[in-house]
Amino acid sequence: MGRPRVLSGVQPTGALHLGNWLGAIRNWVDLQDSHDTFFCVVDLHAITAPHDPARLTDDTLNTAALYLACGMDPERSSIFIQSQVAAHSELCWLLNCVTPLNWLERMIQFKEKAVKQGDNVSVGLLDYPVLMAADILLYDADLVPVGEDQKQHLELARDIAQQRINARFGNENHPVLMVPKPLILKEGARVMSLTDGRSKMSKSDLNEGSRINLLDPPELITKKIKRAKTDPERGLEFANPDRPETDNLLGLYAILSGKGRDAAAQECADMGWGQFKPLLADATVAALEPIQARHRELMADRTELDRVLDNGRDQAESVANETLERVRSAMGFAKRR
Ligand code: TYM
Repeated sequence: MGRPRVLSGVQPTGALHLGNWLGAIRNWVDLQDSHDTFFCVVDLHAITAPHDPARLTDDTLNTAALYLACGMDPERSSIFIQSQVAAHSELCWLLNCVTPLNWLERMIQFKEKAVKQGDNVSVGLLDYPVLMAADILLYDADLVPVGEDQKQHLELARDIAQQRINARFGNENHPVLMVPKPLILKEGARVMSLTDGRSKMSKSDLNEGSRINLLDPPELITKKIKRAKTDPERGLEFANPDRPETDNLLGLYAILSGKGRDAAAQECADMGWGQFKPLLADATVAALEPIQARHRELMADRTELDRVLDNGRDQAESVANETLERVRSAMGFAKRR
């Protein structure tokens, strides 16, 4: 038996923001010490909403470079592009054929995104969580580190593995697929918009000022924080239901300054916004500075990035193909010779 496995991914849809980093990517780093880790850029998911073909490659490579810049180590992790491992699409089809339609129609993200897309919702958008299940199940992942918004998709992946594949095509002693668990850390699991503390920070928000992107220059970060929504009260505190913006900004400060929640709450308990906002801006700029510097280096000379992604693809492919063959065989397909 090898070490337990981890798989996670981010869509290359535009710029990655603080929510993606604090909710997901940041939590991938330490897992590299204890787990076999697979991190993919999920470009097939990125086309479930209308996309610009002229940007897809650049966005994909930028996202992969950010993984490395945020601390993913190619010596310890397989870092790859989802669409380059064909097994993802193939397992998705096999899972499609055993997944009830009404499980997908229930998905909150589908309902939210479908409303935004209007009449032209693609079959791909509905199928998004099945492809995500395929991503996870191909690697026999024990743990999937994600933000809070992905919990329902993880439950679906578990149900597909357990009820639709293992129960039907395996037996108790020989499950076909590993049943994964989500890893959702409390801090940073739900970073909220800077302009509305009741909705999450999101790539698809039309208002750029609602999010801080990981590659935003310092002046822009400072400007966005300066304009972030606040309330007329003095002093910052956690968990006051009438002050969601305060909770969010203080939470960001606690993580980005490295001080933690208790110390941050104590430090800012009597602070006015005019004093707090520059503090948060400085902490954010300082936390992102090393990531931005490493990202610039990686994008200036693509050789290293290309090498990492080629290796990652080969490593991922050998694991994924083995799992795919196991599922094909359990479902009764003729063996590929
Ligand atoms: P994506 O690109 O929408 O989000 C990537 C990760 O960022 C987290 N996240 C947040 N966390 C905290 N606060 C926020 N405001 C916030 N916004 C986003 C998400 O929870 C996610 O962990 N469906 C996945 C992509 C995916 C995937 C997978 C993930 C495809 N296949 C397999 C894990 C395993 C998603 O939400 O991407």
